[in-house]
Amino acid sequence: MTDNTATVAQENLAPMLIQVRDLKKSFGQQQVLKGIDLQIPQGSVCVILGGSGMGKSVLLKHLAGLLKPDSGEIIVDGEDLVPMRDKHLQNYRRKIGKVFQEGALFDSMNIFDNVAFPMREHLKVSEEDIRAKVEHKLKLFSLNPAEVNSKYPSELSGGMRKRVALARAVALEPKLLLYDEPTTGLDPITTDQVDQLILHAKSELGVTSVVISHDIASAFHIADQLLFIYKGEIVVRGKREDILNCPHPYVHQFLEKWRQKNQ
Ligand SMILES: Nc1ncnc2c1ncn2[C@@H]1O[C@H](COP(=O)(O)OP(=O)(O)O)[C@@H](O)[C@H]1O
Ligand SMILES: [Mg+2]
Repeated sequence: MTDNTATVAQENLAPMLIQVRDLKKSFGQQQVLKGIDLQIPQGSVCVILGGSGMGKSVLLKHLAGLLKPDSGEIIVDGEDLVPMRDKHLQNYRRKIGKVFQEGALFDSMNIFDNVAFPMREHLKVSEEDIRAKVEHKLKLFSLNPAEVNSKYPSELSGGMRKRVALARAVALEPKLLLYDEPTTGLDPITTDQVDQLILHAKSELGVTSVVISHDIASAFHIADQLLFIYKGEIVVRGKREDILNCPHPYVHQFLEKWRQKNQ
């Protein structure tokens, strides 16, 4: 068996963590999601590509339990989010990790308190246990607690802040991590580090990740599955080759622009 067939066999065996069926969402007259179908195996990385205004963030917010669809099913870890009531949804949101651009660190709290924050909110454990958990999470992302604990976000580099954001996102040991353009505005080296962190969460913690990206090189590097969204529909899905060989004119144009920029 070659490595390639082994991976395919493994993916076929992995249970689905996320199943979305015929998801539709409009805001007023504008239909933003036009029937999305999605299957994401547990422990894999799914990258969503596409231009701006195509519905990527709206799709991710549905997976995060932050928006309700007009119709369709969203099953995550065996539970349908669509009929879920507020209290149940709050529980659900707590179980997933989010790395959204706007969800930055709390500037007025030091690094230790930033990572401890979700634990203090949701876990009934002693401060001593919290300390052990925070330090464990920081170390997972190659941060030295003795060095960073009492620093403030503004005292760290962009790359280190991303590490802390990741440590906080996994504070409650989620099965699922959602990232909305985690590398926008970062330099190439920091972008590379974020990619490593996403892969690290997968290999060390078995976390399933859904990542919105505009960076094709990074997407190809980290994804087990890629999707390309155009005007609220998935126009192509699969591996790198499926995207590269996609005849859809918009996908073609998107790839051309990227090639030109990277020459
Ligand atoms: N809460 C909202 N109310 C009204 N329109 C929205 C809302 N959120 C998103 N939209 C619209 O939906 C479309 C898709 O948005 P979005 O998913 O954020 O795009 P992107 O692919 O860039 O992430 C955009 O036209 C946006 O203006
Ligand atoms: Mg967006």
